[in-house]
Amino acid sequence: MLQSARAPASSGMSKTILTSEPTRRGMREGKPRRRPTVNRFTLFIRGARLEPMPEVIPIGADHAGFELKQRLVKELESLGFQPLDLGAYSAESVDYPEFAHQVAERVARGENPRGVLLCGTGLGMSYAANRYHGVRAAVAWSPEIAHLAREHGDANVLVLPARFLNEEQGVAILKEWLNTPFAGGRHARRIAQIEETGPDA
Ligand code: RB5
Repeated sequence: MLQSARAPASSGMSKTILTSEPTRRGMREGKPRRRPTVNRFTLFIRGARLEPMPEVIPIGADHAGFELKQRLVKELESLGFQPLDLGAYSAESVDYPEFAHQVAERVARGENPRGVLLCGTGLGMSYAANRYHGVRAAVAWSPEIAHLAREHGDANVLVLPARFLNEEQGVAILKEWLNTPFAGGRHARRIAQIEETGPDA
């Protein structure tokens, strides 16, 4: 059986040594510590540093949300996320459902835990995204609404009404939504009822 032993701090390297049982027993009995040579029971991990993968956040907008989306993509990057920009890629007129479907599908399938959508009012995007089981797309026009959408509603898609927000407001809403945890408890029961009852249950 493998057991772990601490490496000497003098090495200056982050080091974990897994030694075989006899070496460990030897240390307990006060015998001089024998540095294990490489054998099949010995594993050295020198200076290994595991970096967490950045969360991928799919984001989509129609022409009305295009400009604010560009700003939010940059913001997500600077916050350490990995935005997945699903379009639109210009302010040319497009149909919003295409983008809502792309983002909502990813969240519904569990490919990404959360996503962001933007259109003029936020309404069309939320109509489309909320057709997917497990998707809770919340239109938020202030940080307070974004906060409650997360805390009480566990909103996994943020929808921004881009024609009614400036960039600063959009960024503040995004940050609040990203940073607010779901409160659970009675809210979890109510959210479960959305899927458990109703026409599609
Ligand atoms: C596009 O003109 C507009 O209808 C759309 O952005 C959105 O507001 C729909 O809900």
